[in-house]
This record gives sequence, C-alpha cells and structure tokens, in this order.
Amino acid sequence: MKIAIYPGTFDPITNGHLDIIERASEMFDEVIVALARNSQKSPLFSESERQALVEQSLAECCPHRKNIRTDAFQGLLVEYATKRGATAVVRGLRAMSDFEYEFQMALMNRKLAPEVTTVFLMPHEEYTYLNSTIIRELAWYGKDVSTFVPKAVANALREKFEIRYH
Ligand code: COA
Repeated sequence: MKIAIYPGTFDPITNGHLDIIERASEMFDEVIVALARNSQKSPLFSESERQALVEQSLAECCPHRKNIRTDAFQGLLVEYATKRGATAVVRGLRAMSDFEYEFQMALMNRKLAPEVTTVFLMPHEEYTYLNSTIIRELAWYGKDVSTFVPKAVANALREKFEIRYH
C-alpha cells in the first residue's frame, strides 16, 4: 500500500492544488491531503474553515476518487508522514521560483527521514501562475475568482469579504 501525503496551508485550496491531488491519486494507493495546523502564515480562513473547504472542493471535483482522504497535522511533516505510514510527500512545482525552497525542504526532510521520498509533480500549465495569495487578493478587490477555485471556495471568499466590507 503506497501512501502519499500532500501537505499545505490551503488558504484556500485552488484548482492548482486539486490538479496535483488528482495526479497523485493516480500514482498512489492513498493520498492524504494534510492541512498544516502550525503554518508560519497568518491564514485568512481558520483551520476548520480551510479543512471544510478542502473537503467540499474534493467532493466537488473528484467524488469518484475513493483513495483521497483529508487530515490535519501539526509539528514536523516527516514525523506525521512516518506516523501515517506514508513513503512519499507530494509537492507541486509550478515554476523555477518554487524550486529553491522546495529543494531545501526536500533535502532537509530526506535528512530527517530517509524513508520518506519527496515527489514533485507539475500542475497543468493553466495553473502555473496560481497561488492562494493571488486568489485572496483578487477576491478582496471584488474580482470573480470562480475560474481558479472550486465553487465552495469562491462562495466562501465572497462571504468572507462581504462580511469584512460591512
Ligand atoms: N497550485 C496553486 N498554488 C499552489 C500549488 C499548486 N499546485 N502548490 C503550491 N501552491 C501555492 C500555495 O497556495 C501557496 O500560496 P501562498 O503562499 O500564496 O499561500 C504557495 O504556493 C506555497 O505553498 P506551499 O509550498 O504548499 O506552502 P504551504 O505553506 O502551503 O505549505 C508546508 C508548506 C506546510 C508543507 C511546510 O511548511 C511544512 O512542511 N510544515 C511543517 C513543518 C515542517 O516539517 N518543517 C520543516 C520543513 S523542512
């Protein structure tokens, strides 16, 4: 049973993340989409909101993929991966600018847990310029982001910023 972890802050999850999750689900017996609780970032969405959006987005995009699960973790990624019996950590590589940070993280994780391999996947080129910060910013300025994110996320962003405006 080959288990892979796909970790992230998912603030919020985008179509780019979903693209990577679907690709990973074709390669591994089980993919655990793992929300990082102790992100260094200050997320717009709370942990429970982010988790709910991940679950709703997966139900929206790929209900037929029975080997994708969701979870949340805190602490070191490789410790969590080992605890879950995972042998791989999946990361998306969108552009050269991702490479340096990802390379450092992959090497450090390998040093910490040689039995866990980092696997890099390229999302569809349509999504190479996407990230969650850009999505939040567009939504904050009232732009429609529904071509970049699942419906549940677009609605949640609309609600979040309407609440903030009033
Ligand atoms: N499509 C669209 N956007 C993507 C993407 C894709 N396929 N892949 C990544 N991104 C975006 C994310 O949305 C994020 O955007 P943002 O910075 O605007 O929010 C950005 O790229 C960076 O994402 P990512 O690299 O996944 O960072 P992250 O903060 O979501 O996750 C952890 C980083 C949680 C995996 C990492 O901090 C970690 O492992 N933490 C646990 C502690 C630990 O083990 N530390 C030691 C590491 S050596």
